[in-house]
Amino acid sequence: MLRNDSNILDGCESASIEFAIDALRRDELVAIPTETVYGLAARASSRTAVKKIFELKGRPPSHPLILHIAKTSDLDKWSLNLPPVAKVLTEKYWPGPLTIVVQRNTNVSDEITGGRDTVAIRCPDHKITTDLLMRLNDAIVAPSANRFGKVSPTSAKHVFADLGRDVEIILDGGECTIGLESTIIDCTTTPPQLLRAGAITVDQIQADCAINVALASGESRASGMLEKHYAPNCKVELCKNRALANSRQLELTQLGVKAEVLDFDVDIELFARHLYSRLRDADTRQIEVIIAVTAPMIGIGLAINERLEKAANSH
Ligand code: TXA
Ligand code: MG
Repeated sequence: MLRNDSNILDGCESASIEFAIDALRRDELVAIPTETVYGLAARASSRTAVKKIFELKGRPPSHPLILHIAKTSDLDKWSLNLPPVAKVLTEKYWPGPLTIVVQRNTNVSDEITGGRDTVAIRCPDHKITTDLLMRLNDAIVAPSANRFGKVSPTSAKHVFADLGRDVEIILDGGECTIGLESTIIDCTTTPPQLLRAGAITVDQIQADCAINVALASGESRASGMLEKHYAPNCKVELCKNRALANSRQLELTQLGVKAEVLDFDVDIELFARHLYSRLRDADTRQIEVIIAVTAPMIGIGLAINERLEKAANSH
């Protein structure tokens, strides 16, 4: 069950999940696989465990966490006055890569929300984590399992590279199938607002549910949504098309700069899945500048561009 003499356990084995549950009950942290990215999990009912997340990630306490539940019917345990929009969205997209922001009830501690009266909740679509949540009989809070501001992990190896043995157990559930963080919709405003783009798009929500989602503005926009984020060590520059990216690469290479083009090729979903590992890989190979070709502004392309823009803003 132990992999490479490390704290990475095979999440497909039932005993690994038992070890993880035991650690969570002792208020320790466990890295878990989801369909989006790996999460750094603490038991939601333990303030002690939740505080450890902020310490380990180096995350300011003002950045609220997402609560992860096993099934839609658990929503009532953590929320108040669910608006009809939240019901429609969760029925349509859960389990899946969608997080909703709703009013919280008294089961949610201030440590989770940074004192806000709202809470972000999602029901992940990953067999190992659903199994863990069912057996734990509690919710977990889980930010992405990386140091604050850095690239999110999409494999157990990435988590180990970032957090090493500072996390008690890393449950290996293979490579994340989506590879970008969940879409976040604030359901406390009218109309609801998009706080973070993800695999589920505003256009898809409009087509599937006839719900109009606005772009974020005002209070909810300010809630931990930094302009700089998702940053590799190398500098990221953006180009509108491949030809421009190639000529910029030539220019930099002639100046003696180690530069590489990052392009979406043909399959945009595959590109999203591998984006973070490609940024990590560029760092490993000590690339100095990544010249990223922006994606078409449809589907998951919007989420890709949001991440690339923040990465480009970081230097
Ligand atoms: O796909 C995901 O959502 C992953 C996996 C692990 O589930 N999790 C994730 O968590 O991306 P994290 O902590 O990296 O991002 C949480 C985002 C932050 O941008 C935060 O500001 C927002 O959720 N958030 C959390 N609670 C909020 C609230 N009450 N109001 C507005 N935004 C909130
Ligand atoms: Mg994150």
